[in-house]
Parts: sequence; structure tokens; C-alpha cells
Amino acid sequence: MRVVVAGASGVIGTPLVSALREAGHEVLRLVRRPPVTPDERRWDPPSGMIDESALDGADAIINLCGAACAEQRWSPARKQELRDSRIVPTQVLAMAVAEHGIGTLLNGSGIGYYGDAGEQAVTESAPAGSGFLADMDADREAATAAAVSAGARVALLRTGVVMSPTGGMLGQLRPMVSAFLGGRFGNGRQITSWISLADEISAVLFVLEHDDILGPVNLTAPEPVTNAELVRAVGKTLHRPTPWVYSRSLLRLAAGELADEGSFVSQHVVPEVLSRHGFEFQHPQLMPALAAALVA
Ligand SMILES: NC(=O)c1ccc[n+]([C@@H]2O[C@H](COP(=O)([O-])OP(=O)(O)OC[C@H]3O[C@@H](n4cnc5c(N)ncnc54)[C@H](OP(=O)(O)O)[C@@H]3O)[C@@H](O)[C@H]2O)c1
Repeated sequence: MRVVVAGASGVIGTPLVSALREAGHEVLRLVRRPPVTPDERRWDPPSGMIDESALDGADAIINLCGAACAEQRWSPARKQELRDSRIVPTQVLAMAVAEHGIGTLLNGSGIGYYGDAGEQAVTESAPAGSGFLADMDADREAATAAAVSAGARVALLRTGVVMSPTGGMLGQLRPMVSAFLGGRFGNGRQITSWISLADEISAVLFVLEHDDILGPVNLTAPEPVTNAELVRAVGKTLHRPTPWVYSRSLLRLAAGELADEGSFVSQHVVPEVLSRHGFEFQHPQLMPALAAALVA
């Protein structure tokens, strides 16, 4: 297949591009700067411009755009930036899919969609939750409307916490734990639905190559863990104790609203669609996934 990837330079995009090529697909990467290699094509999401040569003959677009959620405090301006960096590119790509008759759009989303679900297990059929991340993910999913209306296959990749050493939750936990500062957040009972980077990449390829998969797809391992279990497991992997307890008020002081939605939501997300289609996880359990991410 000829596959166009947006957000190709990120934590997920970089290994995904390699995996797509290894699987025999032709990949073009959309870049927001002047292209420097033959596989790069220019686009500018705010103005809606995409180099037409990226779209002619494309079979699928994979959209992984979005400014990183956990890098900065959520000021009103930062929240707008987080939304714009997801919703505007999605609208532009969905229009491109519609106008160029591209058959498939795999659109990045997140389990933030479900909001704080407590201990209740949620599948793809659960409604959107509430909160900033839930609203943003629901809005970026809705931004695919032009592609859906045009009859394209649109899959909404609701990704869990990706266990990569270079970004996301683990990227923040690792230095804390390494510095003997590891500890649970609050009572540590909040559930984290995670996925190894290797399984995230395999799952995106699996969805790409299964024409009968469309709509929301949870990209999460089948065995979520509590925050206390996660922190303990990171400590065990890095050979560090994790005795501390970080209260909500302390983390709020440090990170503001991001602390509530990033560290204290509980999400038990079930990968029902992947399981129903026979996807096999390389890392169904956390310890081997952490070993793959942290012990190179
Ligand atoms: N990693 C996770 O744990 C996780 C969890 C849930 C959901 N997700 C979702 O999965 C997708 C990819 O995640 P990731 O971890 O690979 O993210 P990442 O490392 O932060 O990379 C995202 C990519 O988005 C592009 N981007 C950044 N700012 C942008 C802007 N203002 N406008 C358009 N594009 C912009 C950049 O690519 P270019 O510079 O190449 O354009 C960047 O490399 C995101 O949509 C994210 O919300 C990730």
C-alpha cells in the first residue's frame, strides 16, 4: 500500500514508519518544514495546504499529529494549542481523504476519550467521558466527518499510555524513579491502561491491514494495572525502591490541571475490537513491556 503518515517524527510515528516499510508498504511522510528527503512532502495544517503529490495514488493516511500533552502546564493558551494541533490537522486530512478518494484514514485518538471511568471496564462502545482530554479526543474523532461522509474506512485509534522510554508517562516516571523519588500518586488505586510501543506499532499495522476494522479501536494491553502497581513495576525494573506517596494537592501545585487528568484518572479500557479480530499482543503483561522499554 502507499501510506501517508502525518506526525511521523513522534514517539509512535518514527518506529511506525520503519515497521510499515519492513512490511512492504511505500511510505510518504508529511512534514511541516521544507522537505529534505525524497519521502517527505510538505503540508501546513493551519492553512490547509498539502502537497498534492502526497495524495495522488495514496491508499491510506495515518494521522498521529498532536503537541505533547504532558510536557507543559495546561495554561489556556497551551490547551488551545493541544486542541488545534489535533483537530485542525484531522480536519485537513479528512478533507484530503474525501477529495482524493483515499480509501482509509487511521486517525490518532486516545483513551482520554473515556474520561475518569473509575473501576468500570470500558469498551469501544462506551460513551465519551468528561474533562479536557475527553472533549479534545471526542472533537478530534468528530473532525474525521468529511472522510466518513465520503465513504472512506475511518478507524479511530484510541491509544492507551504507551510504554516508551522517550515520552509520555514513562518518560516522566523513569527519571523520578531513577533518582530514588518514585512513589504512587494518591492512594494509587487509579487504573492505568497501557500498551507497549511494540504492540502499539503492531496494532496500527493490524488495523491498516484489516479492511473490516473501522470506527473506534482501543489500543491497550489486556491487563491494565493500578498506579501503585505501575510505579512499583518501574521501580523493580530499574532496581529502585518506590516508597513515596505524592498527594493530589502536591501534584496539582506542580502540574496544575494536568495532574488531575494525567495522574489521577482511572481508566480500565478493554481492547475488545482488537481481541475480536484475533490480534495477539507481544506484551500482554506489564513487566516484560517495561523490560523492553527500559532495559535496552
Ligand atoms: N504516546 C502516548 O502515550 C499516547 C497516548 C494516547 C494518545 N496518543 C496520541 O497518539 C498520537 C501520536 O503520539 P506520540 O506519542 O507519537 O506523539 P509525539 O511524540 O508528541 O509526536 C506527535 C507528532 O505530532 C506532530 N505535531 C506536533 N505539534 C504539531 C502541531 N502543532 N500541528 C501538527 N502536528 C504537530 C509532530 O510531528 P511532525 O513534526 O513530524 O509534524 C510530532 O512528532 C498523538 O495524536 C497522541 O495524542 C499518544
